[in-house]
Amino acid sequence: MSVFLKLFLIFCISGSSFSLDRDDFYQDPSATTLAAVSDDGSASGLSLPLTITNIKGLPNDSVLAEAAIRPGLLSLSPPTYNIGLQRRPTFTTFYGRSTLKISENVSLRNRALNDIKAKFPALNKDTIYPTHLLLFEVDNLFPHVGTIVAGTIAQLVLATNGRYTFGIVLIVRVYFDSLSYTGSYNDDYSQLLVEYPFAANGGYLSSSAATESNVDTPGKYIIDFNDALPPPPVCQCKKRLEALACHTMKQMSGNIPSFCSQYM
Ligand SMILES: *[C@@H]1O[C@H](CO)[C@@H](O)[C@H](O)[C@H]1NC(C)=O
Ligand SMILES: *[C@@H]1O[C@H](CO)[C@@H](O)[C@H](O)[C@H]1NC(C)=O
Repeated sequence: MSVFLKLFLIFCISGSSFSLDRDDFYQDPSATTLAAVSDDGSASGLSLPLTITNIKGLPNDSVLAEAAIRPGLLSLSPPTYNIGLQRRPTFTTFYGRSTLKISENVSLRNRALNDIKAKFPALNKDTIYPTHLLLFEVDNLFPHVGTIVAGTIAQLVLATNGRYTFGIVLIVRVYFDSLSYTGSYNDDYSQLLVEYPFAANGGYLSSSAATESNVDTPGKYIIDFNDALPPPPVCQCKKRLEALACHTMKQMSGNIPSFCSQYM
């Protein structure tokens, strides 16, 4: 049997939809843990090591410098900007764990840049290169529904340099609930500011979020949180054309105009 046939059979037998697991999360053993809460716990007044501006849906002089977490919900402030992985609009008890870490690890920041570029290839990498990653993770989170169920396992990586901020969402499993609220919203969470690609019908966590994608891998989503994206990089085409012309002239005649020396 050929190698390709074997691989094909393995692919079929193992189930054709590869999905993410916890090992695919952004992990940095030396990240700083800002808060870790269980069930209905919450933590607030967590200061960020940088300020974040230019966030979609907020007045553009907003400077977000603090974080808070509740089950499935990361809030940045002021003013309060909620980024939900799973939440219910009415009071509900939660089970599970929510954790917020911050990482400056260079290889993880490069990975984030690659993930963002896969979705936004035209953006200048130097302009959007993240200096910090906020790692917000929910582990087996589910709203109390009377029984113990398999909860949501997901990570939101907020990759930011203060001026440009992108979300990378990795979903291993969702607890599907038509009352769950996902996306980004202001204090009044009836006003959805950024709807996630894996949300359905104005905000709930889609049951197929772990198998779909808006980029290249099932369960992975890249989200633009920016009020304004950077202008496209200035085209270097003219200089490239000049350089090509200079090299051609040199080959054909050996004589080149003086401005060509910059390309030789
Ligand atoms: C950065 O993260 C990678 C991947 O998790 C890890 O292998 C590496 O040791 C980390 N580097 C530092 C300096 O912590
Ligand atoms: C945001 O700030 C810029 C410059 O500081 C200003 O020109 C623009 O009108 C502001 N936009 C909004 C929506 O406030």
